[in-house]
Amino acid sequence: MTQSGEIQDDPFWYKDVIIYQLHVKTFYDSNGDGYGDFAGLIEKLDYIEELGVTCIWILPFYPSPLRDDGYDIADYVNINPLYGSMQDAKNFIKEAHRRGIRVITELVINHTSDQHAWFQRARHAPAGSPERDFYVWSDTAEKFEDARIIFIDTEASNWTFDSVAKQYYWHRFFAHQPDLNFDNPAVTEAVLEAMRYWLDIGVDGFRLDAIPYLIERDGTNCENLPETHAILKQLRTALDADYKNKLFLAEANQWPADVIQYFGDGDECHMAYHFPLMPRIFMAVHQQTRLPIVEIMRQTPAIPESCQWAIFLRNHDELTLEMVTDEERDYMYSAYAENPIMRCNVGIRRRLAPLLENSRPRIELVNGLLFSFPGTPIVYYGDEIGMGDNVYLGDRNGVRTPMQWSSDRNGGFSKAQFAQLYSPPLMDAVSGYQVVNVEGQLMDKSSLLRWMRRIIRLRKQYKVFGRGTLEFIEPANRKILAYVRQYESQTVLCVANLSWSPQSAELELSRWAGKTPIEMFGMEAFHEIDETPYVVTFAPYGFYWFLIEK
Ligand code: GLC
Repeated sequence: MTQSGEIQDDPFWYKDVIIYQLHVKTFYDSNGDGYGDFAGLIEKLDYIEELGVTCIWILPFYPSPLRDDGYDIADYVNINPLYGSMQDAKNFIKEAHRRGIRVITELVINHTSDQHAWFQRARHAPAGSPERDFYVWSDTAEKFEDARIIFIDTEASNWTFDSVAKQYYWHRFFAHQPDLNFDNPAVTEAVLEAMRYWLDIGVDGFRLDAIPYLIERDGTNCENLPETHAILKQLRTALDADYKNKLFLAEANQWPADVIQYFGDGDECHMAYHFPLMPRIFMAVHQQTRLPIVEIMRQTPAIPESCQWAIFLRNHDELTLEMVTDEERDYMYSAYAENPIMRCNVGIRRRLAPLLENSRPRIELVNGLLFSFPGTPIVYYGDEIGMGDNVYLGDRNGVRTPMQWSSDRNGGFSKAQFAQLYSPPLMDAVSGYQVVNVEGQLMDKSSLLRWMRRIIRLRKQYKVFGRGTLEFIEPANRKILAYVRQYESQTVLCVANLSWSPQSAELELSRWAGKTPIEMFGMEAFHEIDETPYVVTFAPYGFYWFLIEK
């Protein structure tokens, strides 16, 4: 059982934690200026601790013009004053650690804001100078033409002309986010300095944002290049040289075969998101078949012993549909984003609960998969209470609205004037803060929040979920997803009904003949396994985790 209340000296801690993802801005405003802040986050640490998560991933909180919600960083080694002071950030890390909660921050190194001093210096410096060389410049926009455009809703090219420099600069994302030039060793050095700065303050790891795009080469799609992996190995060597028990988490929105390169031989990233799995969970539930999930896991190669997948249902971005086929994408759009306003870039800008039509059984089902599949689960703030979204806010802001604490003014998020809030809180009849909020869900013993606390507590009691192997059992009924997780002496059989209707299935479990499966939520014994097929019946979207005792 994972201990809470202290940080363990364990190099593989990231295999056992449960991650809670939040933006400081969205969580709790302690000083009434309309923005969440570090002091507010500290006040809400009790809530996070009681939820049971053991690691917090905080989205970018650095000085920024906030044109990409802080992923446009203007200074790597400071705090955006809207969120408090450096001392507040340090206090937060200390307070989290005191509760046994680790803290992961963002290392957004592919690009900076155009307001970063490095870019301002670069555009004013002569072409070819070391200062100009911090970014990627060209006299024409006809280079690296095989690189796709990622933000297709806003950008027409990966090149933008800078009137001061009188050259084009390269950017894989928004035009106000010039890409750093990792062919220049001084850039890697500068980035390492920022990394060490935060490690010295005590952060436990970094999400490496947009990591496949560090290096560009003509004639390639400029993604996953060997030179990019060489830079990553260099960062990892520097990390391991001076620090212990730290983490790199790769944001590489790629197919499994490309993503696993980001683990290297255990000498690049410790963790990487499983981007292709996520949309297939939604597909499986809508199509009422396990096939999309089983197929993608079959295509997922083994990863080095020290490495781990990060798995998630939703995050702060659109539900990305880049890692599906064209037909699957069409299906996902028609199933989950019928109204075109719900679409954004190559994806769907909605939160978990509205995607699943606020169906409690479906929300529980997908969380049941999240918490029992191989990898470390990530919960996006607000999804534990079933928060909704506002697709009319533009870009991805609809899934970044203020945390809903109570039915008080501004959802208890802030005492500011409504107009002063960084974003309007949700106020609609289905998901507004009057209906969906933490206070109410704590009063209600059968709320989603209470249920989430229970499943998180259960998951933490068994290392098998974070560390075990995965094997599918394939009953004839394809609406049933069944898999075995196995680690040391722990064996858990997970079975789930992906259908809206009651189902039964016959499972081939004869290898455990004579054993009695214990359903783990209630710790009730089911009937004994024998040589004949094991019959399980399911309520709509029902699922069970069975402990198969030695
Ligand atoms: C990552 C972030 C996203 C951001 C982009 C560009 O994909 O998750 O929010 O817009 O990088 O920085």
